[in-house]
Amino acid sequence: MSLIDLLNRRHAVRRFSPGVADPAALDHAFRAAVLAPTSFNAQPWRAVLVEHPETRKAVAGAVYSSTNVGAAGHMVLFCHLADAAALDLDGHAARMADQRGLAGREALQKLRAGYARDIEGKPPQVFDAWAKAQTYLALGLFLAGAAEAGLDACPMEGFNPAALEDALGLAARGLVPDVLVTLGRSAEDDPAAHWPKLRQPADSLILRI
Ligand SMILES: Cc1cc2nc3c(=O)[nH]c(=O)nc-3n(C[C@H](O)[C@H](O)[C@H](O)COP(=O)(O)O)c2cc1C
Repeated sequence: MSLIDLLNRRHAVRRFSPGVADPAALDHAFRAAVLAPTSFNAQPWRAVLVEHPETRKAVAGAVYSSTNVGAAGHMVLFCHLADAAALDLDGHAARMADQRGLAGREALQKLRAGYARDIEGKPPQVFDAWAKAQTYLALGLFLAGAAEAGLDACPMEGFNPAALEDALGLAARGLVPDVLVTLGRSAEDDPAAHWPKLRQPADSLILRI
């Protein structure tokens, strides 16, 4: 199936068949997310797979959506990093220099200094918006990868951050939650499965100047 056909077929699930999990398909979706391009190739995002039954219950309770969140086979929370500390920019610079065949200490130092200026040097609010933007790129490919592997999904930003924090202890891990994705199989009576795809015409979104 072409990418466009897949994107037309996928939909945000409003009702899941209870308990349908597919770890291999989930792994496929994660592989697509990991391949997402990011600014400076820094990948300042993390995905938290929530597996423990009690924690799943607490996470489901934090969501505002009327979707039967707890019935989904998988629950994945996309987060961005709270700051640059977890990015291991020394290691990142070394790997990038290696990939690009940049020889010598000076080239490596130049690359590292660029990261210090352009990543670590961002004011906290700017870093936050930047890291969040990269996370949504990974989210988009994750959703496409899930669709390709036959997993239905619902991305949700509508949750109580304090309740999610209680359930997952994200702050101590240096994570800021963005989007919870529930995955599994759309139920027979999922109304969204029958809604025609609703989008603005491409000409109103794409400006040709
Ligand atoms: C980043 C993001 C956040 C969303 N948050 C919610 C949400 O909190 N609750 C919900 O029911 N749907 C949520 N949705 C689903 C959208 O409403 C849905 O994707 C949109 O209406 C388009 O429908 P479609 O995905 O079926 O094509 C979200 C989607 C995205 C991409």
